[in-house]
Amino acid sequence: EKGGHDYFMLKEIAEQPQAVGDTLLGRVGPDGMLTLDEMRLSDQELRDISKIIVVACGTSYHAGLIAKYAIEHWAGLPCEVELASEFRYRDPILTRDTLVLVISQSGETMDTLMAVRHAREQRSRVLAVCNVNGSTISRESDAVLYTHAGPEVAVASTKAFLTQLVACYLVALYLAQVRGTKFGDEISEIIGWLAETPSKVREVLATMEPVRALARSLADERCVLFLGRHVGFPVALEGALKLKELAYMHAEGFAAGELKHGPIALIEEGLPVVVVVPSPAGQRVLHDKIVSNIQEIRARGARTVVVAEEGDTAVEPYADTLIRVPVVPTLLQPLVATVPLQVFACELATAKGHDVDQPRNLAKSVTVE
Ligand code: F6R
Repeated sequence: EKGGHDYFMLKEIAEQPQAVGDTLLGRVGPDGMLTLDEMRLSDQELRDISKIIVVACGTSYHAGLIAKYAIEHWAGLPCEVELASEFRYRDPILTRDTLVLVISQSGETMDTLMAVRHAREQRSRVLAVCNVNGSTISRESDAVLYTHAGPEVAVASTKAFLTQLVACYLVALYLAQVRGTKFGDEISEIIGWLAETPSKVREVLATMEPVRALARSLADERCVLFLGRHVGFPVALEGALKLKELAYMHAEGFAAGELKHGPIALIEEGLPVVVVVPSPAGQRVLHDKIVSNIQEIRARGARTVVVAEEGDTAVEPYADTLIRVPVVPTLLQPLVATVPLQVFACELATAKGHDVDQPRNLAKSVTVE
């Protein structure tokens, strides 16, 4: 049932190209335009939206943080991202024109379900991105966009995360299409890139041996830091979360721009720091700033593990280990940049002798608040 893999997690990491492809299937028309039949919210309702609040927990929350960049950029809508466990204990400003986008693999997470109920009581519309058909969250929401990742058995979320990203991109692009905030050819260009992502993820998976070797060499470390900017920041958070839950190691993700406001004090001789580098073409300014950050932390003794696009030569002098990912548009980079971090955490935890499918103290779906 593990398809020849030692762990479900390894199987699920390997299934990601397929899962991403399946989530796109049937959602793009021959004209390159999106058709989200299951949307159940009319075009007029979608045009009336004035704000989006994304609500989720854990890895799904990280998908939401990335969705914000896509929603703002493509759909031109204000977007906030909230931890479900915090959401209803504040006084979030919810109106009929607020779309609450909830993201949940299981569709059973109690914190997220309570947020759905709270939003609907305030008469906001709720759109769920869910992986499990007929789950409680999908039944209680106004509309559902299913991710077609297939069953995810390992406690640590991998393929569900990638498909959540795809679903969120589709929502952002669909809103752009309906609201006319982007031209049709811009939308179909991105859709074309999305269609390429299964093969890009496959390329990444084919080059993971050095990442595994690196992970094994770091099995005795006590702490690993992750840095990123823009959509690479949530990728850094996700890399750190995977390492915490699987390897039981102290791991922290930071926005690279925050380094100088505190975290740089943590840098000491030999500390492994994983840096997710934005595309030099798509994000020139941020790219150059992060290259300076890599220089700074390396000068203070950090052991740098750099995740950078193919052809980005500027990072080479400062990378103790260089992990290459294929060139894709900036907003889509998390689809390729997250994969090495999943493999890294999985291999490091395995090297420590942990059961990566059943990390201690964790359950696959958290049905208590
Ligand atoms: C991390 C992980 C958890 C879940 C979180 C939300 O690998 O799996 O952080 O992402 O518990 O679960 P869902 O998406 O089912 O609501």
